[in-house]
Amino acid sequence: MRFLKLIIVLLFISVPLAASADKAKTIDDLAKMYDSSRCKDCHAEIYGQWEKSHHARPLMGVKGGLMLTPLAKKGETAFSPEDPKKATLKNFPCFKCHLPQAITSAEDSVAVELAEALIAGDKAKVGRLQITCIVCHSDKAIVHKRELGEPEKGVLYGAKNMDSHPDKIFTKVKKSAIMHDSIACGQCHGLGPNFEFDQAFQCANLYGSYLHNYISSGGTKSCQDCHMQKGDHLFALDWNDDKGASALLGKAISLEVETLGYEWLKKAKTYIPKVVVSTTITTTAGHRVPDG
Ligand code: HEC
Ligand code: HEC
Ligand code: HEC
Ligand code: HEC
Ligand code: HEC
Repeated sequence: MRFLKLIIVLLFISVPLAASADKAKTIDDLAKMYDSSRCKDCHAEIYGQWEKSHHARPLMGVKGGLMLTPLAKKGETAFSPEDPKKATLKNFPCFKCHLPQAITSAEDSVAVELAEALIAGDKAKVGRLQITCIVCHSDKAIVHKRELGEPEKGVLYGAKNMDSHPDKIFTKVKKSAIMHDSIACGQCHGLGPNFEFDQAFQCANLYGSYLHNYISSGGTKSCQDCHMQKGDHLFALDWNDDKGASALLGKAISLEVETLGYEWLKKAKTYIPKVVVSTTITTTAGHRVPDG
């Protein structure tokens, strides 16, 4: 009897410890935890650029297509749950890059709510989940955690140290070792297939192509050099803007075509028309295009 009591007491002690108190239980909680809307008050230009970028709508799909929907529907992908009510974070391996804060800071109940919102086509709710300023300037600002530790609470990481930063939560800025380097982007822009899952799959591979094709052929520019000139946070291309995207790609990709037409004398009096088409496609991008 006493043994049973002990077990019951232990259960009561361990349950609240196990259910970590500071993890988000709802989409709203998670959105609030990473809410960057107040950054707008002082960084209006950067905020305006970010708001229009793909990083501000990483689960929405191109033109609001809610591309994660198949993952919420039974049988449609290898990751889909039996029932949206039983969804867990593991049903959305895409979070690794499309919403990394879900892995560190959400409970499985967020996956259930997301699965239900996807099936209901609730764009307003899905749209609240974003790669906000805090994701890049805090969570993703340190890659050598054994040496440098986890990102500190209340600290943002940027280009320089600031002992006092006027935000109400992030009161300090520290110099990040990686913010100016391609590796900061490479954390999400993909090296190749994601082999760490029990069902390997691939999405973005662009960082792999940058390292193994561009850099290894003598390329010297970083992602930031080409995509964030003067601190630009729009990160073009914008695939929701057909005209703008075509114009950027038109500038970046050139196609040269040379043709030679001739007639081949196969046998006496039999001329067969032939053509040789030689095409050269070159791009100014530091990686494959398209990707993902
Ligand atoms: C290794 C990181 C990574 C993982 C894991 C990942 N993605 Fe992506 N995904 C990206 C990046 C980065 C882009 C945008 C850049 C690009 O296309 O090169 C992208 C773009 C996309 C696009 C095209 C843009 C859009 O919004 O329609 C779709 C669709 C997509 N991902 C779906 C998924 C799904 C579904 C999963 C999970 C099964 C997933 N991704 C997992 C990094 C990833
Ligand atoms: C009350 C105004 C205010 C708010 C709110 C605020 N900032 Fe700042 N922030 C500043 C000022 C001022 C600087 C210093 C700018 C400078 O020296 O160029 C700064 C600097 C920074 C830097 C360092 C810049 C560098 O050169 O590395 C980063 C990163 C940053 N802020 C991000 C944020 C983010 C993210 C938020 C929202 C969570 C935020 N800030 C909210 C005023 C603010
Ligand atoms: C996808 C990741 C990412 C997101 C999201 C992001 N930033 Fe940045 N930010 C960077 C990187 C990388 C740099 C360094 C750029 C460089 O090397 O020139 C930077 C630079 C800055 C700077 C320094 C200014 C400058 O001109 O160099 C400020 C301030 C800043 N960000 C604020 C913000 C705010 C505010 C938000 C949200 C509205 C935000 N960032 C969202 C990656 C991000
Ligand atoms: C936290 C993960 C993450 C980081 C860090 C990150 N990205 Fe992204 N990025 C994404 C995802 C996910 C998308 C696609 C969103 C969507 O589904 O449309 C994207 C979209 C883009 C796009 C729009 C084009 C497209 O095909 O969607 C560009 C350009 C881009 N990122 C460049 C960068 C650069 C440059 C950096 C580094 C300064 C960076 N990103 C850092 C995750 C990230
Ligand atoms: C030498 C310049 C250069 C470098 C370096 C570079 N890019 Fe690009 N990137 C481009 C150009 C040019 C395009 C094509 C359209 C445009 O102008 O945005 C492009 C397109 C993209 C796209 C859209 C691809 C698609 O098909 O959806 C993404 C995402 C992207 N870059 C991310 C990155 C990331 C992440 C890095 C670093 C690992 C990087 N880029 C390095 C110039 C560059």
